[in-house]
Amino acid sequence: MAVLPIITVPAPILRKKTRRVTSIDKSIKKLVTDMRETLHAEPGRVGLAAPQVGVSLRITVICLPDEEDAEAKNKDIVLINGEIIRRKGQRLVNEGCLSIPGYIGEIYRAEAVTAKGLNINGKEIRIKGEGLLSQALEHEIDHLNGVLYVDRLENQESLRKLEPEEETKEKSPEDTI
Ligand code: CO
Repeated sequence: MAVLPIITVPAPILRKKTRRVTSIDKSIKKLVTDMRETLHAEPGRVGLAAPQVGVSLRITVICLPDEEDAEAKNKDIVLINGEIIRRKGQRLVNEGCLSIPGYIGEIYRAEAVTAKGLNINGKEIRIKGEGLLSQALEHEIDHLNGVLYVDRLENQESLRKLEPEEETKEKSPEDTI
């Protein structure tokens, strides 16, 4: 297992549409293990998409913060070839991204989404989420399409730089998708 470095803007890989996983082989399983380890390497990280660790494949992992204790690591949501199949409602949220450190923006996300994809065993799964889970599913699946939350800003005033003290204090979940 290994904690992988997080790739940040303006790395071109963050703007590429990722490829689908055709076979969940040993190398994919190792990548998922490393992504989970990377997600848990710092408190407050909610989700991670493969391009953020330099791999252009449709793989995401999510772990909600209130489940972030030792045993919660077994409850990570691993989604392979994930896509959003339903969106409901709209709400204004604060959002940040591990690949855009030091910034936070206000954007619209759905109130609830349904995503589908494969789990680590190749079984088809559907995940229904609202609140932060819904936001994380949209954010991570955006990554797979080369989309970053800053693309969804209404205007540049909705983006702001975090103050140094905001960065050092325990991060809010919105900072770390
Ligand atoms: Co992100």
